[in-house]
Amino acid sequence: MLVLGIETSCDETAFGLVEDGKLRGAGMASQADMHALFGGVVPELASREHYRVLGPLFDGFMAQAGKCVSDLDAVAVTRGPGLLGSLLVGVAFAKALAFGAGAPLIGVDHLKAHLLAAGLEGELPLPALGLLVSGGHTHLYYIRSAREFKLLGRSLDDAAGEAFDKVAKVLTLPYPGGRHLDALARRGKIDERLLPCPYLDNDNLDFSFSGLKTAAACLVAERPALREAARQLRLRGETEGAGATSSAPQQDLADFCASFNYSVARTLTLKTARALKKLREDNLEIRSLTAAGGVAANSMIRSHLAALAQEAHLPLVLPSPQLCTDNGAMIAYAGYLLAREKLANRLDMTAVPRGSYIPEDMITAF
Ligand code: KG4
Ligand code: ZN
Repeated sequence: MLVLGIETSCDETAFGLVEDGKLRGAGMASQADMHALFGGVVPELASREHYRVLGPLFDGFMAQAGKCVSDLDAVAVTRGPGLLGSLLVGVAFAKALAFGAGAPLIGVDHLKAHLLAAGLEGELPLPALGLLVSGGHTHLYYIRSAREFKLLGRSLDDAAGEAFDKVAKVLTLPYPGGRHLDALARRGKIDERLLPCPYLDNDNLDFSFSGLKTAAACLVAERPALREAARQLRLRGETEGAGATSSAPQQDLADFCASFNYSVARTLTLKTARALKKLREDNLEIRSLTAAGGVAANSMIRSHLAALAQEAHLPLVLPSPQLCTDNGAMIAYAGYLLAREKLANRLDMTAVPRGSYIPEDMITAF
């Protein structure tokens, strides 16, 4: 079964092709450089850019994969959550393709697709405990199957990725700043008391990163040398790990980044550990721990989760860093898993913006 995946929920226009559970091709056009000029994604520009590149990107992608529209057994597309104007471009394109190919249309939940993505590279034993950490979401799920996800906890304000990007922005690091902060942190020494591990003094599984973001921004405001060191590195193109730490201000900057990284990694891991404990107390089976979304590419978060998994005697199944950020392969794979359960959507399927629930409106097809 050959399934095409289309992703246009934010600022990446991406395709993926999955055949019988195996990746056959992936293509992407990123808009990150354009939005970097504004320090964040501009929704109107994002949808226009998806509209501009989707058709030619698709033609080139299919030609390179040696496939044509009539080869497709299903067309999967991100239906939400995301920027509505951007989602609509991908959904309209997918509907037309599905109609033209006479293939079922499959609406994919972007967040679930992130968490299922690890299955493309190896086995993801289910049920699993899944941590989704992206630019817009910090969610903990109990994952029973490709379709059945129980939300256990979520961000009450800023998502972890948002906190990374905002702190990177006050440091004047390039946008999106998460991976730059991560790279600088690798050269730094952690001060565990520099920044708080937020919203742990409770017994729930929710997250709140706005306080940590503000604390970090205040610290940067008090210490202008941090921003100046970041500016120097940016001008030399050395924010992504190139070059060695050569001055005291640069070491201070690396230490600050390591300490910020630590606060996020520790908070995420402690709440994940708490979720694990609660699930086990409820006698629910857990066969693996997984994490996904752009922030799951973070090296310190990956190593903290590895330690937790080892302690809990669970396999940790993480997608490779390039499969953590938005991509078309994960949409194709989630579509393939749903197609295998003979599930699809009608052609009047709606796109669902961030903050709204995706309706349970799949129908039996195939
Ligand atoms: O999943 P994603 O590509 O898009 C959304 O659906 O939001 O996640 C993007 C987020 C951005 O906030 C970006 O800065 C962050 O993931 N990110 C990272 C790293 N790589 C990407 N954050 C921390 N460390 C990284 N290595
Ligand atoms: Zn995403």
